[in-house]
Amino acid sequence: MQTLFITGGNRGIGLELVKQSLKNKDAILATYRGDTPPELPLTQDEKNRLTWLRLDVTNATDLARLPDVLANQHIDILINNAGVIGPDRQSYNDMDTQGWLHTFEVNTIAPLMVTNALLKNLSLSSSPRVVTVSSQMGALHRESTGMIAYRSSKAAINKVMQVLSLELKAQKIVVCPVHPGWVQTDMGGSEADITAEQSASGILLLAHRLTMQDSGKFFTWEGKEHVW
Ligand SMILES: NC(=O)c1ccc[n+]([C@@H]2O[C@H](COP(=O)([O-])OP(=O)(O)OC[C@H]3O[C@@H](n4cnc5c(N)ncnc54)[C@H](OP(=O)(O)O)[C@@H]3O)[C@@H](O)[C@H]2O)c1
Repeated sequence: MQTLFITGGNRGIGLELVKQSLKNKDAILATYRGDTPPELPLTQDEKNRLTWLRLDVTNATDLARLPDVLANQHIDILINNAGVIGPDRQSYNDMDTQGWLHTFEVNTIAPLMVTNALLKNLSLSSSPRVVTVSSQMGALHRESTGMIAYRSSKAAINKVMQVLSLELKAQKIVVCPVHPGWVQTDMGGSEADITAEQSASGILLLAHRLTMQDSGKFFTWEGKEHVW
């Protein structure tokens, strides 16, 4: 049984990661930031393996509390999933700059800060892995217009995770960003290519098989290497 920590576990891809990890018989620490976590029809065994934690990934107080809350709980796989699409106005000639900054706070800065807050817990695992849900929209080799706040935040998180993979090499912590596909969620919309079930299933297969040799690589939800 592996122990996963999943941010933004209350809906979308994150909720599917939680549900499928429960089916996989793993233990899950999942975060939400609303008043209450989602109500799921769970068996007693599933209830025993799922813990909900209230966490706004941009909130320094919430993050500072994590080490005390988790104490000596080991974490095998951290999935930095929480993310935002960014402000309505994010084109080159009409930019909501406060919204752009917030997008960076959630999509770029928070995954590093969450990882830092959990380093001790990750180090208690025999095979610690950090998977950060990024996006092909941040890949530098792709040429597309618009969505500057979102694209730049995901391009930046790719770089952050590549650097982090080198920083954490000595501690044998695997670090990889992953593109989850274009997914039917509130963010991806109903016209998207794949369901949250398909995306989560691929991300989990990948997360479970990652080794140090994969660290610092950018992957697709299908487990293939992604061009940066
Ligand atoms: N859907 C796609 O097609 C697609 C494509 C490429 C990449 N992605 C990435 O995949 C990840 C999940 O996306 P999704 O499609 O599942 O989006 P979603 O349905 O909009 O869900 C986003 C999740 O992130 C959480 N979140 C946002 N800001 C947060 C904060 N400050 N603190 C804690 N949690 C926060 C949300 O919590 P609340 O419910 O409290 O808002 C929610 O659980 C994101 O990183 C996204 O950028 C998605």
